Amino acid sequence: MESVLNILWGFPWWTWVLFFLVLVAIRDIFVQRAHTISHNFPVVGHLRYWLESIGPEMRQYFVANNREELPFNRIERGWIYASAKRENNYEGFGTDRDIYAHQHIFIKNQMLAYKNPTDHPNNIDPSFIPCAKVMGAYNNRRKPYRPASIINVSAMSFGSLSAAAVEAMNRGVMKSGAFHNTGEGGLSSYHKQGGDVVFHFGTGYFGVRDKEGNFSMEKMRQLVADNPCIKAIEIKLSQGAKPGKGGVLPGAKITPEIAEIRGVELGIDVLSPATHSAFSNIPELIKFIEDIAENTGLPVGIKGAIGKLDQWEELALIMVKTGKGPDFITIDGGEGGTGAAPPSFADHVSLPWTYGFSSLYKLFDKYNLTERVVFIGSAKLGFPAKAAMAFAMGVDCINVAREAMMSIGCIQAQVCHTNRCPAGIATQSKWLQRGIDVPLKSDRLAQYFKTFRKELIEITHAAGYEHPCQFTMDDAQVNVDDNDLNRALSATYVYNKNAVPFKGMQHLLDCPYLGGKAYVADIQKEQNTSKEVLNKTVLEPQKF
Ligand SMILES: Cc1cc2nc3c(=O)[nH]c(=O)nc-3n(C[C@H](O)[C@H](O)[C@H](O)COP(=O)(O)O)c2cc1C
Repeated sequence: MESVLNILWGFPWWTWVLFFLVLVAIRDIFVQRAHTISHNFPVVGHLRYWLESIGPEMRQYFVANNREELPFNRIERGWIYASAKRENNYEGFGTDRDIYAHQHIFIKNQMLAYKNPTDHPNNIDPSFIPCAKVMGAYNNRRKPYRPASIINVSAMSFGSLSAAAVEAMNRGVMKSGAFHNTGEGGLSSYHKQGGDVVFHFGTGYFGVRDKEGNFSMEKMRQLVADNPCIKAIEIKLSQGAKPGKGGVLPGAKITPEIAEIRGVELGIDVLSPATHSAFSNIPELIKFIEDIAENTGLPVGIKGAIGKLDQWEELALIMVKTGKGPDFITIDGGEGGTGAAPPSFADHVSLPWTYGFSSLYKLFDKYNLTERVVFIGSAKLGFPAKAAMAFAMGVDCINVAREAMMSIGCIQAQVCHTNRCPAGIATQSKWLQRGIDVPLKSDRLAQYFKTFRKELIEITHAAGYEHPCQFTMDDAQVNVDDNDLNRALSATYVYNKNAVPFKGMQHLLDCPYLGGKAYVADIQKEQNTSKEVLNKTVLEPQKF
């Protein structure tokens, strides 16, 4: 035996390499049948598969220019990373964008910018922008809610995101006064870290389902009673990346923790059908909304991507006739993100955000319904100038999903559907998510939201306004085509936004329904202190 080992050790290293390659070649030609290229070009054929697998990274690092990549280009990602880290997020030398390009947006600045009066809340916190409307006010819900931040975390479930990512996001929204939408996977302990929560559910009714997988009002009522962090409920009708598409959660991915949170059985495949079992038409949907609102006291909204408008029109007509309906509507764009979707859906089904939102707003305007509803927009709106455009078109808040992921370290590897997210965000791998430092990442999300709001308020002031709700369709222009080079949004999308009732930022700060309690308390405390100091100096003038 020893002499055989001695002979083997005597071979030079390259003979071992050669031996290995011969084995690979034999496998390629005679054993495997799946890959023609490896069969026809043994050994070297593997290079092709390897190079293809690292192609996206190579292009991202070396080849793609700053504005080239999708869904988010390097400049956009860099802006989020720098904002989240409170680093220098400016650019030097002027814009590198072709500002004459088709669809380029311009916000029209005022000759003299808006100036805050002395005791204005934005002098204390330049990032304070609550929603100008109150969810549930029109329908007299028992617990109306005014989001304390116009930017919030969009629906992403625990399951599609890791526990560490969900926890970092919830702590981040608490620090920035925003809300955290749970996504379809139920309410987990990671969503209960102090931030306001919007409980979201889809056709799987995870967290509020009975044994047969149907919606359970009893569970809904109990969930809301046990969790005062839930401030509103969102019923998912569809999302931009895969409207009308159901899904399966494989039994193998159902851990005891996920089974408990979602209310499903261990190890058994769970179906999220394409349609709801709780309602089948628009009158039933409205009744379902009203039942949930009545049972929980909370504002109830719906989320949808826009395609055909006839059923939305039916909804509007019933809202006019009955005085009932959703308290808020989240409109997602076809360019929206997802944990996993077939490319045919993601690329082609449902309208892009500007087309979808403008169609819906116009329809609600036709029936004088815009004041009754809080409009939330989502789909790549997490940048201040884009948000200004969205406010000009009629949104009251925006939700961000992938931008929030980037603020806590997502590198746009685009592998959310594989469980191999290198940043530990869209994976259930314990090892990968261990890389997330939850307190640090929560600070990053909070800082991204604050920087975003501060820049949005600066753009708002440059346009001569106090709050972005005051933007009109004539405050933004878009490059159209060669005949009519540049037009106001009102001319391009053929409607005018209705004025949002707004009595000043102080009025919003004083609102009893304002959310984000921990964040807001700090602003109020600081404002009271500075008022006391001011009063003291006025009452007891200094003697010189
Ligand atoms: C990882 C991931 C999971 C998502 N999960 C849900 C979900 O459970 N329910 C839903 O309605 N939308 C879901 N979405 C869509 C987002 O909530 C959002 O509507 C969409 O990504 C557009 O926002 P964005 O452009 O800021 O990413 C998910 C998106 C991502 C990236």
